[in-house]
Amino acid sequence: MSKYTTHEYDVLVIGAGGAGLRAAIEASGSGVTCGLVCKSLLGKAHTVMAEGGMAAALANVDERDSWTTHFADTMRGGQYLNNWRMAELHAKEAPDRVRELEAWGAVMDRTKDGKILQRNFGGHKYPRLAHVGDRTGLEMIRTLQDHGIHQGIQVHMEVTVVELLTDGERVIGAFAYERDHGRFVVFKAKAVVMATGGIGRAFRITSNSWEYTGDGHALAYLAGADLMDMEFIQFHPTGMVWPPSVRGILVTEGVRGEGGILTNSEGRRFMFDDIPDAYTSSTSDNEEEGWRYVTGDKSARRPPELLTRDHVARCIVREVKAGRGSPHGGVFLDIAWIKQHISDSEAHIKKKLPSMYHQFKELANVDITQEPMEVGPTTHYVMGGIKVDGDSQMSTVPGLFAAGECAAGLHGANRLGGNSLSDLVVFGKRAGEYAAKFAKDNSTGQVNDDQVSKIAAWAEAPFERGNSGENPFTIQSDLQVMMQDKVGIVREENELNEALDALEKLKARAEHAAADVNRDYNPGWHTAMDLRNLLTVSEASARSALQRTESRGAHTRLDHPDKNDEEAKVNNVVRKGSDGQMLIERIPITPIRNDLQQIIEENK
Ligand code: FUM
Repeated sequence: MSKYTTHEYDVLVIGAGGAGLRAAIEASGSGVTCGLVCKSLLGKAHTVMAEGGMAAALANVDERDSWTTHFADTMRGGQYLNNWRMAELHAKEAPDRVRELEAWGAVMDRTKDGKILQRNFGGHKYPRLAHVGDRTGLEMIRTLQDHGIHQGIQVHMEVTVVELLTDGERVIGAFAYERDHGRFVVFKAKAVVMATGGIGRAFRITSNSWEYTGDGHALAYLAGADLMDMEFIQFHPTGMVWPPSVRGILVTEGVRGEGGILTNSEGRRFMFDDIPDAYTSSTSDNEEEGWRYVTGDKSARRPPELLTRDHVARCIVREVKAGRGSPHGGVFLDIAWIKQHISDSEAHIKKKLPSMYHQFKELANVDITQEPMEVGPTTHYVMGGIKVDGDSQMSTVPGLFAAGECAAGLHGANRLGGNSLSDLVVFGKRAGEYAAKFAKDNSTGQVNDDQVSKIAAWAEAPFERGNSGENPFTIQSDLQVMMQDKVGIVREENELNEALDALEKLKARAEHAAADVNRDYNPGWHTAMDLRNLLTVSEASARSALQRTESRGAHTRLDHPDKNDEEAKVNNVVRKGSDGQMLIERIPITPIRNDLQQIIEENK
């Protein structure tokens, strides 16, 4: 048996972004012991890359806002496939979570009368995003970390979990390795919270950082949990496209929230060409009115650049395909144009979008106060994830909870910008609270030595393959190219079938991925193990995309371009069959409560 060290907690939280930190704070505040595992260093979670803000109906900038409008916007954005209970809880609780962050020391931008400032974002009827310039996620992590560090949470940095440990049906801990020297660790826990983020590293062009290899999704699935809605992958309309080394890095929607416009090579604002019926009454068809909206005129309709992300991304792809793109395969995003309206526009842009200014100046030698940026879609977020109970965040496996991006439900077919940061703290808190309750009501499970031996042997296998094995980075790179091409922003049946064939071949290759013998600081070895998770989430997405024979939200089928009312009634659930095969079950959506349906009707 390989050597390992053991740690024991009541609650183990895996992932230290906004959801994981908030869950750990809540669990330890409930009087249970709590361990927090981060794949990276504490404070370096991908949440720091969330820029534009945190959606909450505080009604500080527009007093007409309320939880009901936020709820209706979230449901419409998600094309009504959302878990409506989660959308309700999120809209109701987000304002308290934002105020709580402020009480814990977050320094947010302010209105002239000293309230938390809120900005416009796509699909939100009113200015709703509490923010700190374009560094909101960074401030969230700083605040949660400062607060949590005094609560007795035991932090395990640079540790990657490779399997959840089970006792019968129940999850009772995790097997992991330390990234620095490769030592194995067993965590025993009465309850486990998954807060591992997304799957973007399965794609070639992504805004996601290196940690986003679908770990939480895959580990939960392998432990028997249901995944849901895995076909819905959000391609953020604006990532950098040039130079090649920075392709995919996020260009915040905050640029459009502050008045940035999208133009094609002919200089035309192409977003005026296609305003969906559902949004015509709220979306402006002229430049002057759109600008008035940005400056706070409550009678004006929003500019079309602030339509939902799925729609904006598709419009960009259309322009590029029609040969009206920018020199490097994107379109132009122009915030400099506001100099027509604002005399001190240079200072204004630098104040509102400091990171964007530096990002473009340093990485692309573009001064965004003077010239347009080149942008194009980038894989940003997966709406699908671990299926959870809306109130408790417990998965279909007892003792396993999930929060944040790795959990499914809140966002349905498409997430509204800014609903992610609020999701993290609303459902991170709930997951921590209910995981602590579960831990108080249950005893420690029995670790199965066979399971530990098997997973340790699996983890060590890449060392034994030596020169006969394949470089894991090549396999990951081939996977990324394939997923981008065949399971990307637009899909069709034959390509999805080709993707599934390709995944079988990639799985076979991954079983021969090799690593150099030394365990110290060995990213090749880490990637050899990550491949199993990347391939699992890729297969779940491709299979679910094949099942959904319609176009809805972030899922666009060229062979089924319209919405299909029958498809609107089901979620795709992904489950591991008894023979290890991946199964898709189509489950009917729980009928919405009457009072919530009425809110949707009233807001249409
Ligand atoms: O564009 C952005 O700042 C991203 C925000 C989000 O995905 O919520």
